[in-house]
Amino acid sequence: MSAKIIDGKKIAEQIRQEIAQQTEQLKTSRGITPGLAVVLVGNNPASEVYVRNKQKACEKIGLLSELHRFPEDASQDLLLKKISELNHDDKIHGILVQLPLPPHINEQSILQSIRPEKDVDGFHPVNMGKLAQGEPGFVPCTPLGIREMLLRENIPIQGQHVVIVGRSNIVGKPLALLLMQKSEKGNATVTVCHSRTKNLADITRQADILVAAIGRAQFITRDMVRPGAVVIDVGVNRIEDAYSPKGYRLVGDVDFDAVKEIASAITPVPGGVGPMTITMLLNNTLQAATQMINN
Ligand code: GUN
Repeated sequence: MSAKIIDGKKIAEQIRQEIAQQTEQLKTSRGITPGLAVVLVGNNPASEVYVRNKQKACEKIGLLSELHRFPEDASQDLLLKKISELNHDDKIHGILVQLPLPPHINEQSILQSIRPEKDVDGFHPVNMGKLAQGEPGFVPCTPLGIREMLLRENIPIQGQHVVIVGRSNIVGKPLALLLMQKSEKGNATVTVCHSRTKNLADITRQADILVAAIGRAQFITRDMVRPGAVVIDVGVNRIEDAYSPKGYRLVGDVDFDAVKEIASAITPVPGGVGPMTITMLLNNTLQAATQMINN
């Protein structure tokens, strides 16, 4: 048996068409173009790629997108000042500060300075708190994209055992909260594992849905997966590849070639979770603009 390869790019494209239509409606009915401001500090090559992809996606579906670049040594005060400006800018409905930030910047202070109503990344403690309590608010884009992908692939979530490897604030923690919610889109039994988990493979082998969000290339091997499980790979890792013109290639946190032989469905890297994450950012920006009219 070989797994169904979940085509994240195709699902994302379909959702983007829906978002583009709703964006057009908002423009014609209310004269509002949803606007996203991205703040990028320094020259981290991966961040540069992510930010470029986010901007291209915005432009393609008709959202306004602004990039605010700062040098690696920019002061925290300067960043706080820019965020305060964006908080008060009526053209801007969503604000995203690309992570990671340089070590001299206090990430929490920056994230907490974003108005929760414009926090389209869902990283502000108010939005994280709402998610924990099951209240409406902005949900981080990768968890939201993973749930949407499962729903659109008709993969059951309710009552299933979801094992998440990775406990980050961006993916692991919010995904656990989202999928355990008392809701027909949730109701999963969730286990969160991490680098200090004992007998990791014993736990991952119990997963109906296994989510790899560790940040280590090809960490999830075939022996860690129950035959028939659904495997979601959040990892984006560069590994050396002498045959590639760039000298490297991208791989996930899952040993794809081996695991696809026993899983029932699996997401590829690239072309799996990544396009869904960006799509949910577009979705959250449209929501932010819509909610601002209604308030
Ligand atoms: N860095 C890696 N992933 C993300 C993300 O989803 N949002 C932001 N702002 N930074 C990131």
